[in-house]
Amino acid sequence: MTPTPTIAADTLWLDKNEGPPLRPELMRRLLQLDGESLRRYPSRTALQSALARRFCVDADRVLVTAGGDDAFLRWSRAVLPPGQGVLLHEPTFGLIRTTAEAAGARVEGVTWLEGPFPKAAFAERMFPENGVAAPFALLVRPNNPTGRCVEERTLRELLDRAGRQLVGVDLAYGEYADPGAQEFALELAARDNTLLFGTFSKAYGLAGLRVGYAVGPREVIAAMEAAAGPYPVAGVALELAEAALALGPDRAHIDCVAVERDQLAALLESYGARCLASSANFVLTRPPVDALALARALRSEGVAVRSFAGDQLLAPWLRITCPGDRQRLERLGRALGAALAEVAR
Ligand SMILES: Cc1ncc(COP(=O)(O)O)c(C=O)c1O
Repeated sequence: MTPTPTIAADTLWLDKNEGPPLRPELMRRLLQLDGESLRRYPSRTALQSALARRFCVDADRVLVTAGGDDAFLRWSRAVLPPGQGVLLHEPTFGLIRTTAEAAGARVEGVTWLEGPFPKAAFAERMFPENGVAAPFALLVRPNNPTGRCVEERTLRELLDRAGRQLVGVDLAYGEYADPGAQEFALELAARDNTLLFGTFSKAYGLAGLRVGYAVGPREVIAAMEAAAGPYPVAGVALELAEAALALGPDRAHIDCVAVERDQLAALLESYGARCLASSANFVLTRPPVDALALARALRSEGVAVRSFAGDQLLAPWLRITCPGDRQRLERLGRALGAALAEVAR
């Protein structure tokens, strides 16, 4: 049996793509909350209206959910009839496939690890001929775990061609992509065939609060609302997410991550690893040694990264979240050096 690695008390958690630490403004807001947020059943209305203003859509086109995970669950229940085809590019965020399959959908994946998005292969499956029903296509932009972004032009083409057919776009890491991505998100929200998924867990740094949202056609949003309970998010979480939205995503953190992505990739490459160019807050890397052994050695050095043991495509790769702080990046660098030496020994 493989021995369980020792975990340092102050582990550097770089395995779940979490965002920046809580900003002082949000800490103050937390301390100012009165007991009514706890006594009363929570209302999503204010946050939904604020998101609607942010995306320039009517409020009945927005649904606040218990994280993106809950949005996917509601989507699978409300939008996917049993036997419905779902088309993904893979590898991608695993919960999408699991949720769709649990709802009885048939999921097919088009492989896209690196290089440009495989537009022709994807379009071929998205628009089948001979009267076969079109699958529900869902794209993740930037993608997790690769950090790759479907080109705007390509996504636009697919959406235009989809006509009235609904297409999902997950923007969980959208704030980390280039600044134009925010404008592109507004363009997507304005379409009547697009269902967007978003979250406060990443660039807003609020993963522990469990707040996500969907923006889409009003009948789809109404069906997703009815697909599970009316109070998915706690009142305190709603109030903090609203304050965070008013502040905007943490720009200093986003800028820092943009620099760190390159620094981390350069460091990894100096050790002989390969890295994919990323538009998110993490880097997918193929180390020059066994990936799982390296992940275990890093754990012993007090650094947790994401490994993919057992995954046919991803087993040789590791996903490392950018620490978002110079000292922590240095600590990661030292841990990497020590762990690689340990594995090579
Ligand atoms: C691509 C993607 N979408 C959605 C989510 C869901 O995040 P949450 O449920 O924390 O909002 C994640 C979480 O890692 C993700 O990577």
